Amino acid sequence: MPLVRVHNFSISLDGFGSGEPQSLESPFGHAGQRLHEWMFATSFWDREAGQRGVDAVFAARHELGFGAEIMGANKFGPPGWQDDPDWQGWWGDEPPFHTPTYVLTHRPRPPLEMAGGTTFHFLDASPAEAIAVAREAAGDLDVRLGGGASVVRDFVAAGLVDHLHLVVVPIVLGRGARLWDGLEALEDTFDIESVSSPSGVTHLTFTKRG
Ligand SMILES: NC(=O)c1ccc[n+]([C@@H]2O[C@H](COP(=O)([O-])OP(=O)(O)OC[C@H]3O[C@@H](n4cnc5c(N)ncnc54)[C@H](OP(=O)(O)O)[C@@H]3O)[C@@H](O)[C@H]2O)c1
Repeated sequence: MPLVRVHNFSISLDGFGSGEPQSLESPFGHAGQRLHEWMFATSFWDREAGQRGVDAVFAARHELGFGAEIMGANKFGPPGWQDDPDWQGWWGDEPPFHTPTYVLTHRPRPPLEMAGGTTFHFLDASPAEAIAVAREAAGDLDVRLGGGASVVRDFVAAGLVDHLHLVVVPIVLGRGARLWDGLEALEDTFDIESVSSPSGVTHLTFTKRG
């Protein structure tokens, strides 16, 4: 059975996946780039100059074996993007998904076909319904749950995530989009492992028990 997987989801020590306020100028709010500096330093991001150690090995798994992605409305654009008929996401003409990509929003619009195999579909649906649609599109491949925090939280809470890779970044944000609310006793249903990287981040993997 293909899996539902989260990769490279970065959180602060206090569990925020984004700062605030999110805006066109600052997609991650007061967090800026700090949640993802570990990734920018890898060969996953910078093929020529990036480091090829632990962080790069984890980061590269983001690309392996996916046939569809699901993301939240706040990952797709800044607050209010639904009012802009020309908004096509942050990623330019050729987004890095290369699969059907389902954007959960209470204000859906017609699909948007981009270069390179990404088509954005806008879906007002429960997590279980969204997984069913994405699984159908993905065929034998896995479904990536791309974030942000509230979507990851909702899908984990609904028991729909098989594998979760978090990257704990040693910063304290204090406010923003929080991952952990409502996920009490997650350790009862997942095997949890951690790997410390020389870069200072800690990779956590949560693998659902069979
Ligand atoms: N830390 C990381 O690694 C990482 C990864 C990805 C993204 N991010 C960042 O995280 C931030 C976004 O996270 P977030 O927690 O604020 O928001 P989010 O999870 O991206 O999106 C939440 C929004 O999606 C829509 N939505 C969610 N479930 C839905 C459903 N079942 N049906 C219909 N609509 C649904 C709702 O928007 P509407 O009601 O407005 O439609 C909801 O407010 C951004 O800054 C993004 O860049 C961080």
